[in-house]
Amino acid sequence: MKPDTRQKSRSTKPDTDKSAIQSAFRPSNRVTLHPGDCLELLRSMPDACADLVVTSPPYNIGKEYEKKLDLEQYVAQQQMVIHECIRALSRHGSICWQVGNFVENGAIIPLDTILYPIFADAGLKLRNRIIWHFEHGLHCAKRLSGRYEVIVWFTKTGDYIFNLDPIRVPQKYPGKKHFKGPKAGQYSCNPKGKNPGDIWAIPNVKNNHIEKTEHPCQFPVELIERLVLALTHEGGLVVDPFMGTGTTAIAAIRHQRRAAGAEIEKKYLNIARQRIALELNGELPTRPMNKPIHQPSGNEKISQSPFSL
Ligand SMILES: C[S@@+](CC[C@H](N)C(=O)[O-])C[C@H]1O[C@@H](n2cnc3c(N)ncnc32)[C@H](O)[C@@H]1O
Repeated sequence: MKPDTRQKSRSTKPDTDKSAIQSAFRPSNRVTLHPGDCLELLRSMPDACADLVVTSPPYNIGKEYEKKLDLEQYVAQQQMVIHECIRALSRHGSICWQVGNFVENGAIIPLDTILYPIFADAGLKLRNRIIWHFEHGLHCAKRLSGRYEVIVWFTKTGDYIFNLDPIRVPQKYPGKKHFKGPKAGQYSCNPKGKNPGDIWAIPNVKNNHIEKTEHPCQFPVELIERLVLALTHEGGLVVDPFMGTGTTAIAAIRHQRRAAGAEIEKKYLNIARQRIALELNGELPTRPMNKPIHQPSGNEKISQSPFSL
């Protein structure tokens, strides 16, 4: 029997299918997947309709889906998209912009530092700079290999949605008790788990990852599930202007939120459609949220080498 890799099993299939994926935005759509430029989609959306915008924009590093621009042009292009996202964001809403580094002649420019003024000048407040740590990536010869990227989380106002309970993680010492004072003998930590903090170790989607498609840099679903659960309520609208393989929509559907996004490349759009349709049917295999990261025992054949440190 195939192992069940879904985060939770469903006893009944949702009464949705591919026809639940619409290409023109209407607030009542369960999923909008716009085939084209994100600005077209965003401009078709009313003011203040979105609860969360979460995306990983092109990083301008010459990936197959991007034309490398000079930094000024890149920032101007991002600014147009960010301003439309802010307009479409509700006053309780959040924007999470996930970025890495722009690399120029071997020197790195952290994109979150370059883009921060666009958000700050528009009056948004930075709540966290989440470090997403992963273990696989390019091996650098002349600097340390990059093993994290950043999610900058901004809110539109001080009156924002933040649900901590659904994203709590297990306590390190759940049995720890107060040893003196009026609470002596009682458990000292929250039995529901602890705040996950702002450093998230979540495997990135490389070759052996169960979610891998031919896209060079897709989000792991579990990364976006955490943001969707924390920053929206059921029924809320989650928007990803650079949808790629549809990961943001998948995380939104899984937690009973609506989703809207755009993808300009046909081949990724097709992958997104297929993955979203599988998710709507409760059939998309993903790495479960909060699954511990695999640690080699050291006894595997591939763990042995005469050159081991
Ligand atoms: C970093 S990838 C996002 C991957 C996505 N997070 C996922 O999980 O698959 C950026 C995506 O934006 C798309 N893209 C680039 N410019 C775009 C635009 N102007 N409008 C819509 N999509 C665009 C690219 O084709 C690419 O798939």
